[in-house]
Amino acid sequence: MKGRIPQAFLDEVLARTDLVELVDSRVPLKKSGHNFSACCPFHNEKTPSFNVNQDKQFFHCFGCGISGNAISFLMEYDRLEFLDAVDDLASTLGMEIPREAGTAEVPVSSDLYDLMSEASQYFQQLLKKKADGGKGVDYLQKRGLSGEVARDYGIGYATNKWDGLLKALGGSSDRQQKLVDTGMLIKNDNGKCYDRFRERVMFPIRDRRGKVIAFGGRILDQGEPKYLNSPETPIFHKGRELYGLFEARQANRKLKNILIVEGYMDVVALAQFDITNAVATLGTATNEFHLQQLFKVVNEIIFCFDGDKAGLAAAWKALEIALPLIRGDRLVRFMFLPDGEDPDTIVRAIGKDAFVEQQNQAVPLSQFMFKHLELGNDLATADGRSSYVARIKKLLEKVTDPVLKELLVTELGERVHLSTDQLNQAMKIEKSKVQQSTNRISGKPKTITPMRMVIGLLVQNPTLAKQVNDTQWLEHVSQPGAPLLKAMLEMLHSNPHLTTGALIEHWRGSDEHRQLTTLVSWEHLINDTEKVVTTFCDSIDKLFTEIKHIRLDDLINRQKQKLLSENEKLELKQLLSGSF
Ligand code: UTP
Ligand code: MN
Repeated sequence: MKGRIPQAFLDEVLARTDLVELVDSRVPLKKSGHNFSACCPFHNEKTPSFNVNQDKQFFHCFGCGISGNAISFLMEYDRLEFLDAVDDLASTLGMEIPREAGTAEVPVSSDLYDLMSEASQYFQQLLKKKADGGKGVDYLQKRGLSGEVARDYGIGYATNKWDGLLKALGGSSDRQQKLVDTGMLIKNDNGKCYDRFRERVMFPIRDRRGKVIAFGGRILDQGEPKYLNSPETPIFHKGRELYGLFEARQANRKLKNILIVEGYMDVVALAQFDITNAVATLGTATNEFHLQQLFKVVNEIIFCFDGDKAGLAAAWKALEIALPLIRGDRLVRFMFLPDGEDPDTIVRAIGKDAFVEQQNQAVPLSQFMFKHLELGNDLATADGRSSYVARIKKLLEKVTDPVLKELLVTELGERVHLSTDQLNQAMKIEKSKVQQSTNRISGKPKTITPMRMVIGLLVQNPTLAKQVNDTQWLEHVSQPGAPLLKAMLEMLHSNPHLTTGALIEHWRGSDEHRQLTTLVSWEHLINDTEKVVTTFCDSIDKLFTEIKHIRLDDLINRQKQKLLSENEKLELKQLLSGSF
């Protein structure tokens, strides 16, 4: 379990983020009246029904009903988990996420990052020292790597000592423990620590902010493992990182596309030939998370695989992962290298221009898909065509972008000589449905009770909270919504500047969140400010009267059964005399 993020921090992140700017950087917005609008990025439409309201810091689509604040937008649009969405917003603002104390997880402290940066410096210095780093330098030279690239990628060297890093950085037991936590030291059964990385060329792995979070260490000659990687640590999750992404973004103001290769050496060799758009996964297959990350940065991803059987199988796996993520404006292509070669050896053999030329010839995902399946199915026969269509159908079901799906169906039709109509019939492809998610509820609330009116107006206009000073009367109320209203009012009394978007954040993940989200987009048609205030105050009065009567009934009932406490007797007296 991750430590909870303090609500005050979320309030601040949301207060300092501008939703209009955030959305606009991904979906260009046009000003329309009070709102900003665009064609909805979450469903297919031709006229804009997606609205972003700056005052409320809230977006809503009248077409598909999706809505929320800046965090929700990132979760949906960039397909991030909650914590990652918050981290994204926070790091844009230069803020670090604090965690509330008393939770199980070790807080991700900045100490760990600092230590990793020290470790990286330490390895880099060793590489430069003739006495210590000679072997490392020799190795890199033998592989043809320039000093310049070694420097840009922060490549270093770990000597064969068991206590090199331990002595250099492990000055206190606290630091030693943290070096164990980051995987740099290993603690044996006797509690003694020693260096994990020995006699290896060290590749620092940086996160997207450029902080060193792990290392990959290559053995100098033969031996196992060829690459030793940092273990999973509080700051390193290997399935979520891409080697070289930070460096690629540093080297290019605007990346056009990204090339996914297999290894550390491939990334740095390409960089040496001025091909600075390559990244590598860390000994794992590319996963959906990787692709999502990359699509945030570029619209085109090129996979580079070995031309052998294993490479082909890996490419097919990558295709299946990419299918749900591609859209009309997102390209995925495949580049296959001659058997037995990798980008490192190829680029050294043929040079930059020829490599780039090959990259430009990379086949689009659709072509790879159609061609690859043609190999196993003879399209000249009816049987072959039908099993071909069946297999493609299965794959196309994964495509979420309806426009692209239609284009692919058309292309399939051309390949098997069927019209789109015939094919649609054969495949029964449903128009891609907009994903259902809890906050995609549109429409009006069923009935408008005073409680609903009050909560609805309040969530849309948080400054209304100052119209109600006292929340005592909401205390013992069994009416649905009363605890929510009370909590909202109290929150806004102590925090009067919360926007709509920030206010609802306090309920994320609960039923109330769903109700509030519906109410934010509720069109009650009370637009002018004065009318909003009077309607709100009227509804509060109605609610108050309603609640008073319910309470009165309850007290009278229990008085008959002689169940009242002294305080309740007093309350009843006050209610009856109308002085409450
Ligand atoms: P390769 O074995 O293809 O190595 O591993 P390479 O990149 O061509 O390396 P060189 O050229 O022999 O130096 C590809 C990637 O798989 C991971 C590493 O990330 C490596 O870059 N790997 C490989 C490991 O993590 N551990 C290993 O033992 C081997
Ligand atoms: Mn290699």
